[in-house]
Formats: sequence, C-alpha cells, structure tokens
Amino acid sequence: MGDELKTVKIGLLGFGVVGQGVWKNIEQNRSALETRLGVELNINKIVVRNLNRERLISVPETILTTNANEVLEDDSIDIICELIGGTDEALTYTEEALKRGKIVVSANKALICDHGESLFELARQHGGHYFYEASVAGGIPIIKTMREALIANRFSLIFGILNGTSNYILTRMEREGLSFEETLGDARKLGYVEADESLDLDGIDAAHKLVILNYLAHGIWVNLKDIICEGIRSISKEDIEIARQLGYKIKLIGVIARDFSHNSVSVRLHPALIAKTETLAEVNEVYNGVSVTGDVVGTTVLIGRGAGQDATSSSVISDIADAVSLLKGEASTGRHTSVDPKACPDEITLELSPPDRLEGRYYFRFHVKDEEGVLAEISNIFAKHHISFATVNQKELSDNSALIMVTTHKSSEVSVLAACEAVKQLGSFMADPVYLRIFNPEDYSA
Ligand SMILES: NC(=O)c1ccc[n+]([C@@H]2O[C@H](COP(=O)([O-])OP(=O)(O)OC[C@H]3O[C@@H](n4cnc5c(N)ncnc54)[C@H](OP(=O)(O)O)[C@@H]3O)[C@@H](O)[C@H]2O)c1
Repeated sequence: MGDELKTVKIGLLGFGVVGQGVWKNIEQNRSALETRLGVELNINKIVVRNLNRERLISVPETILTTNANEVLEDDSIDIICELIGGTDEALTYTEEALKRGKIVVSANKALICDHGESLFELARQHGGHYFYEASVAGGIPIIKTMREALIANRFSLIFGILNGTSNYILTRMEREGLSFEETLGDARKLGYVEADESLDLDGIDAAHKLVILNYLAHGIWVNLKDIICEGIRSISKEDIEIARQLGYKIKLIGVIARDFSHNSVSVRLHPALIAKTETLAEVNEVYNGVSVTGDVVGTTVLIGRGAGQDATSSSVISDIADAVSLLKGEASTGRHTSVDPKACPDEITLELSPPDRLEGRYYFRFHVKDEEGVLAEISNIFAKHHISFATVNQKELSDNSALIMVTTHKSSEVSVLAACEAVKQLGSFMADPVYLRIFNPEDYSA
C-alpha cells in the first residue's frame, strides 16, 4: 500500500464493553493517533448480535449490522477486530478472515488458548496476521514487551497475577477479613465476575492467558487439561490470616518455569503463598502483574489494569497501530509481525513437565482434636514421605480442637499428596488437611 495509504478501514466484530471502548478511545484521541500513524482511521462496519440493544456509545445506524459477511467479505476493510468473545462464531469468523489474508486483532484469550495453533497456522498459510495484545493482562503491554523489547532474551521464569476478579476477591478477604462468599457477592454486584463464573473463580481465564504467554515465550502450545489449573474457591480467611502472620500473602499465580538443562517447561496456575516482600504481592484489587525473567535483561515487572473497557481498548488500539505500520510497509516480517512466534530449534523437542514432577515448599493447616501425640503422628507420616517441616505453629481452639500450621522444606508434590492421604486416615482430624503451595521466585534462579 505504501505511500497511497490515506484511510485505514476497520471492521469491528462485536460492540460490547471492549468494542465500544475501541470506538470511544479512537474518537477521543483521534487527532493524536492519526498524527502519530499518518493515516485516517475509519471504523466503517460493526457487527453485533442484537441491533436493538441500547448502547452507551451511539454510532450511525448504517454501520451496524448483524451480518458478519459485510465485514468478512468486504475487501476494502483492512483490519478486522474480533471482540465477540467465546469460541463459537468468534472462531468461524476469525478463520474466515485469516483465510482471506486479513489482519485480525483479537482480545479473545479463550479462543487463542484453544485454537491459537491452527489460527496462527492459517495466518501463516494465507499471509494474514493475528494480533493479540489485549488477550493477556488487558492494558499491560506484555505481548509487545516480550515479543519486541525483550527479544534478546530466553525466559527462565515468568509468573504473574493474570485475573483481576480473583485478585480483587483475595485482596478484600485479606484487607477486611471477609469470607470468600461475602467478597464474591460484592464482586458480582460490581460486575467484576464473568457470566460464566468458573472462568474467574476456577482459574480458567488466567490459565488461558498463561497458555498464550507460554507459547510466546517458548513456542509450544500446552493443553489446559495437561497443567495444574486451580482457582480460589477453597481459599479461606483463616489461611489468609495465617499466611499474613507467616509473612506471606495468598495470590492466584500463573507460573511458567523453563528448565533449560532438561529442556522442559512447567506451566501451572494455582493459589500460592508468596512473600509479602515480593513486588507482585503488592499487586492488589483488580490489577494484574507479570514478572518476566530473561537471561540477558534479568527481571522486569509490569503492573497495570488487567481488564476493563479503557485498559483493554488501549491494547486493541495498539494492535491496530501495529497493523497500520504493517499496511504501510513499515514493519518487516519476522518477530515484529503477528504470525510469530516461531519455535526455536530446541523448542521443537521441549517437554511440558508433568504436574507430578513439581517440587517446592508447602503450607499445611490441620484441624485436629486437641489430643496428646497428634502432632507426633503427623510428623511421623510426613517423615516417612521424606517431607521435613520448616515451621510448626499450633493454636488451641475453644472446642477442644486445635489448628496445626506447618510449612515444609522443599518436597515433591507427589509425596505431599500421598502424605495428605495418609494423615486423613488418622482418627484425630476434624476436617481434611488444607495445603497450599509456597511460591518463591528465587527457587528458579539459575
Ligand atoms: N471486558 C473486558 O474487560 C475484557 C478484557 C480483556 C479481554 N476481553 C475479551 O474481549 C472480548 C470481548 O469482550 P466484551 O467484554 O467486550 O464482551 P461483551 O461486552 O459481551 O460484547 C460482546 C459483543 O459481541 C457481540 N456478539 C456476540 N455474539 C455475536 C455473534 N454471534 N455475532 C455478532 N456479534 C456477536 C455482542 O453483540 P450485542 O451487543 O448485540 O449483544 C456484543 O456487542 C472477549 O473475548 C473477552 O474475553 C474483555
């Protein structure tokens, strides 16, 4: 297109929270954006499901349609933004657009997690491009940072808080001593929880983003069913308080830990105790944070709004800007473009480390009858499973029971699970043992 490009035409698939944000923020900063990009931006078609829906942003009636083909089959449209969500029509439309060699911008982490491999392949085959900055951590420019600014690096450790809703719930539980259910009620009222609550509460939304980050960092797609994916439903205010006393916070954390010597990568998403002194322990409320350790740069931490209309549309518009550069012939092929990332030679044989190979430190809370010898029995069982205790605390309760809180030295997850099963057989337990992983980034330093 080169010098002839004067107006870039954009088609939006979806005009909900994010779609309206894209329109609103392009309008708001149109002059600055067009000056920076050297083109006019024209959203000339918007596909929705229901034409009669009331929207906060009003647009000329003539550009709204329920017929996706008006965007997909219009050769004059340069960039298609898929802001529908889900994996049904969003998949069909994205495939169709990429088959036509279009530039597609997406905020759809679920779709990329489940179908990214084939969608990137389609982009490669047909000369299309697939941009996805808004799919991970909303307004935080993590994709661009890793793909471009940190290109000199290989990544030994990436970990982060990737779901704002669960972080909001854990923050309020910690600050106000509230239960999970009480806080969830407030999160629902504020509209923070997805219609499918499982996405937020069972860690699935954060795991989708983790899968995308892993692909970006290490070139392989992992399947959600092959990784640990645990949410926050079982986190109690008691554990948050005990963790606080021990110098930790409980956060829902995604971890991608690469072991270069064994050419394997561990990808997992679960709540964990993290030292209060860690930067990410201070990422609160609906904020997200990602810590990236590269072998050249060291550790870089990005913190920002992980969702919401404006933050997410900031990332979508950033992708639109990259797409404009591509259309103008400014961006070369390779890692700058959106058909990457390509697997490096050793990533072709990179192995996903199975969950049962996990090792680390653990926190336990045992609610037991306050009887002589219970602690000794528990520690005997743990010793048999080669788990040694780092700290032990006990608290008497008024009903003749007691809480025993333990942290362990480095142990294998398999042993921890086996020891848990074994102690459950003791007659002295008032409730099943609670265990949580302790995450310390220093365990992964070379
Ligand atoms: N919201 C956030 O903070 C956020 C943050 C990061 C990423 N994302 C991602 O961004 C995407 C959009 O999210 P959102 O919050 O904007 O969703 P949303 O508010 O539910 O909007 C979805 C839009 O898609 C339209 N739509 C749904 N099905 C359609 C179909 N079959 N054909 C045509 N249009 C259809 C809807 O039309 P009607 O308006 O007529 O119903 C609506 O305009 C999702 O992938 C989401 O995961 C969202």
